[in-house]
Amino acid sequence: MVSPAQLPFEQPQPLQVAPQLRLLQSQGTIHRIRTAVGDEAWLVTDYSRVRELLADDRLGRSHPDPQNAARTGESALFGGPLGDFVTEQADHARMRALLQPHFSPKHMRGLRPRIDTLTAGLLDDLAGSETPADLHAAVALPLPILVICELLGVPYDDRDQFRAWTEAAANINDRAISEQGLGNLFGYGMRLVEAKRREPADDVISRLCATEGVSTEEAAMLSMALLFAGHETTVVQIGLGALLLLTNLDQWNALRDNPSLIPNAVEELLRAPGKGGGGIPRYARTDIEIDGVKIRPGDLVLLDNGAANHDPAVFTEPDRVDISRKAAAHLTFGHGLRYCIGAPLARMELQAVFSQLIQRFPTMRLAMPVENLAIRRDVLTGGLTALPVTWNH
Ligand code: HEM
Repeated sequence: MVSPAQLPFEQPQPLQVAPQLRLLQSQGTIHRIRTAVGDEAWLVTDYSRVRELLADDRLGRSHPDPQNAARTGESALFGGPLGDFVTEQADHARMRALLQPHFSPKHMRGLRPRIDTLTAGLLDDLAGSETPADLHAAVALPLPILVICELLGVPYDDRDQFRAWTEAAANINDRAISEQGLGNLFGYGMRLVEAKRREPADDVISRLCATEGVSTEEAAMLSMALLFAGHETTVVQIGLGALLLLTNLDQWNALRDNPSLIPNAVEELLRAPGKGGGGIPRYARTDIEIDGVKIRPGDLVLLDNGAANHDPAVFTEPDRVDISRKAAAHLTFGHGLRYCIGAPLARMELQAVFSQLIQRFPTMRLAMPVENLAIRRDVLTGGLTALPVTWNH
């Protein structure tokens, strides 16, 4: 019998799909693999299967025996099971019901002008800086943090502190660091919620506090979940999106010449970054058969949305960046019951960045060969550490 493939798969360049992932994908839809911490799991790499299974309630985030469940990594938050096996579905429905109203289309539309202004401010600062400059530090990192701070009512001055905690919580190599980060973040959330209860403002945390039946602990937990989910992923996608355009200058120029392509281009930039294998974790709640493979209750199943986004059956020439292709069917925000609540917000941020960046810096270029750029391997979200760029002043 062939031994299971070992995650993470080697990625020759930050944006390229791992060759081993490609190979698996060409061999079938579901594969036995070993996670980074040595546990056995299933990896699903086929677009239709990943999409179906994301919407299948026979899979969940919890496990009946969490201590002995297979894990993807050491992170206390994402490395293993989450939530209570018996009440998971009801708990999840409650969480969505409490959060969704704050991300309604009406709320989101109201935020657009502010996001545009914040983006313009960051680009003003960038325009005044020396080249080469770091686009990651100047835009990709601060914009999502500014936006989520304003939305939630979290002081922006606390950013170094809460970022250190969210990063620690997402650490995939060291459980103690991750647990401590999570504990600190929750303590911070409790203090914020108590302050908002004393002095409410026009922000999501204050509105959560004012919702009947929501305890201080629950408001703190939900607020910190949003603070976490609301910035790390968006930071990564802005960085990778910019890198994709800077390494595909024909696409950069096409956007410069035709800004109406921006919404479609953002979908393609969300789809196109190649990944090293992994994806959205689930545990089987019951026996399931996938394409003739029997999955046992409690088995860890990784729904590889990155591989699905590169499935040639759905996206022709998937490794080519093409801002005019129909890319909106990508699974970068997941699908089904747990579809990303913040997707409309993330889309607005990406649209603001790319529409303004290209118009203001049409001559921008990468200031370093792409193969020399470092990809983070210590945190779940991955992404760049820096993106050096230059332009004609
Ligand atoms: C480009 C940026 C983003 C990406 C790629 C992303 C990706 C995802 C994915 C794949 C899921 C589904 C996880 C699963 O099925 O288990 C998810 C869920 C979620 N996301 Fe996002 N996200 C982004 C931005 C945001 C933002 C800005 C917020 C909030 C302000 C947010 C809040 C959430 C929440 C609360 C969930 C949980 C939904 C649930 O469990 O029902 N995300 N996100």
